[in-house]
Parts: sequence; C-alpha cells; structure tokens
Amino acid sequence: MFEISERMKKLPPYLFAEIDKKRKQLIAQGYEVISFGVGDPDLPTPDRIVEAMRKAVKDPSVHRYPFGKGRADFRKAIADYYRKYSDVTLDYEKEICVLIGSKEGIAHFPFAFINPGDITLVPEPGYPVYQIGTLLAGGVPHFMPLKEENNFLPDFGKIPNAILEKTKIMYLNYPNNPTAATADTDFLRETIALCKKHSIIIVYDAAYHEIYFEGKRPVSFLSIPGAKDIGIEIHSLSKTYNMTGWRIGWACGNEKLVSALATLKENIDSGTFEAIQIAGIECLSGPQDDVEKMRKIYQQRRDILVDGLKELQFKVKIPQATFYLWLAVGVDSLSFAEKLLLEANIIITPGIGFGPSGEGYVRFALTIDEKKIVKAIEKMKKVMRR
Ligand SMILES: Cc1ncc(COP(=O)(O)O)c(C=O)c1O
Repeated sequence: MFEISERMKKLPPYLFAEIDKKRKQLIAQGYEVISFGVGDPDLPTPDRIVEAMRKAVKDPSVHRYPFGKGRADFRKAIADYYRKYSDVTLDYEKEICVLIGSKEGIAHFPFAFINPGDITLVPEPGYPVYQIGTLLAGGVPHFMPLKEENNFLPDFGKIPNAILEKTKIMYLNYPNNPTAATADTDFLRETIALCKKHSIIIVYDAAYHEIYFEGKRPVSFLSIPGAKDIGIEIHSLSKTYNMTGWRIGWACGNEKLVSALATLKENIDSGTFEAIQIAGIECLSGPQDDVEKMRKIYQQRRDILVDGLKELQFKVKIPQATFYLWLAVGVDSLSFAEKLLLEANIIITPGIGFGPSGEGYVRFALTIDEKKIVKAIEKMKKVMRR
C-alpha cells in the first residue's frame, strides 16, 4: 500500500531539514542552542521592500494567476539590474523567466532537458538540489569534486571523455555554497569552451552573487563572452534582500533554455505571486544602501569568527564571498559536528553532508549575531581544552 516511487527512493535525506529537526529537538529539551547550521538570513527584509509589498497586495488586480514568464515590469527591472551592475544585456521578453525561488528553477530545469540515463555534472561538496533535480528527472549525476588544492573549482581534466559525451547539463555555483570559493574569468572562459565543445548546457547558480566582501564583486557568468550561447544563470532575491521566505528568483540567459523552463513551469505552477514581483522591482531598482550595510554586518561576523577560530589554532581560509565559512577540521566531520552539538550545543554542518569531498570540513553559516558568535567561540574553547 502507498509504496513510494523508485525515483523518490533514490533521494538522499534532505540535509538541512535534518539539521533543523535536531535544533528544534534540543530547544524543546530546554537547551540554549547556537546554530551556524542552515544558511537562512536572520536579518529582516528591508522596510522599503516590505512597504512596496504592502502597497502592492492591496491592489486586487495582482490577486489572480500570474502565468507566463513573470510581470514585464519586473523582468525589465532584472534586465536593468544586469545592465547596470554586470554590463550584461538581456532581452526581458525572451531571456528572463521569474521563479518561485531559485531552488524551484534548479529542481525543475532538468525535467525540460534530461531523458532517462542522461548525465549531469554536479559539483560536490555542493547544494543538494542539483543532484536531487537530476534524480527526479531520471538523470544520472556525475560528481565533480571541488578540492582545496584547486581553489574549490572542478578539475575538468579528470572527467572521462565518455562521460562528457553523454552529459546534458553542468551545474556550477559561485560564489559557492558550501566552500565560499569564487570563480575567476579564466575558469569561466575555460568552462564555456569545454561545454561548447561537448554541447553541454551550463546552469550557473548565482544565489550568492551579491554577498561579497571588501568591495570585490564576483565576476558575473553572463558577462563572459559566449555564456549566453549555452547557459542560464539562476538568481534569487533570497540572500541579497533577506527574503528566503518570500520565494522569488529568476532564470536568465539563453532564450531557448529560458523558454523551455517557462513552458515546463506553465504546466506545473502558475507563476510567482505578482505582489512579490512588484516588491522585487523595489529590490532591484531602489537604493542599494541596505545591501551594502548587510555586507558589512556579515563581514564583521566573519572577522569575529575567523579571529576566534585562529585562536583555537585552526588554519582558516578567509571567505571573500557568501555568508559561509568552510573550515578544515582535520578529523571526520560528523564526529566533529556531533561533539560540538552534544558538548556545546553548537550546530554546524558536517562537510560530508555536502558530498564525499566535504569530508574533513565543516560549514559555519554567518546568519547569527555577533554576540552569539563570541559566545560560541568561548564554548568551543572549553570543548577543545577538554
Ligand atoms: C547555492 C544555493 N542555490 C540556491 C539556493 C536556493 O535559494 P532560493 O530558493 O531561496 O532562491 C540556496 C539556498 O540555500 C543555495 O545555497
């Protein structure tokens, strides 16, 4: 009775849901838990955006099915944002499709292009949804290890030719979750050349593009010549404007890829609530001071954590982007995370949860305030002394 499908059985347990379950259990038992676990911003959505939403929701014309690729005015705002900040030209009518969060687009995209047995190239350690979307669509993920000695970029030389020949999609994500690495122009050029040679679609996840430090904005994938010939970028308002719960993002780039995703979505969902899209216009077109303020907050948190970990004698690679810190702990990551959880009630994510190459590392999310970070360091000192 009610046997779940073979494809559901192939799914690994969803890592972050498991971590959150553990956090809630400890809190219910009366423990004070400090969680560096899930990368969900603790800061509020800026007032100007909440206000735009409040106004928009009062208009009954936005209460109906949104349909299509999204509101034209929002897509125009996205195109303007790319022109202004990344020097990228996008045709808002053909090259942009609004999503219900970038996760939705990442998970659905393979259904538009993967036939049973087709291969996708998936970075590991990595955001689990590249693998999950592939499996649900009947594809076969081939993992690309991200190693520290290669600056957490995939080594394409290690992918067998036979695999490349059968690959339909390559997923990339920079600034990267969980390693916090960024990609440079040379790497992106090399990737585009390789994918062109083998007719591989690039799905470039840029969810953390706006979370960077010391004014060093990461390179935009679509700004590299040829990117639009074979790729799409998936972007999100979640992290930039503290809007994870609002569910809004977009896919943009190659017209055919965008259009296939839009057709697929038309048959599955009916688009993103228009009031949220109107708030999205405010996000991208309004003053960006709040985003800069947020970057400074993450930078301060990063610095406190980095100093504390250095005092604890860890060799720390200082993140230049994202709100994650990827730490080599020198022991197996599950035992390390479990020790911190049981002896200090601190939640961190064991690297192995992001893939086998994450073993020996743990991820800290900087989505808690400075006081808690200081307290966590003190608690860690006690545990380490023991
Ligand atoms: C790399 C990466 N991509 C995409 C997402 C999904 O973001 P959203 O669906 O909120 O846009 C996340 C969320 O943590 C992520 O880490």
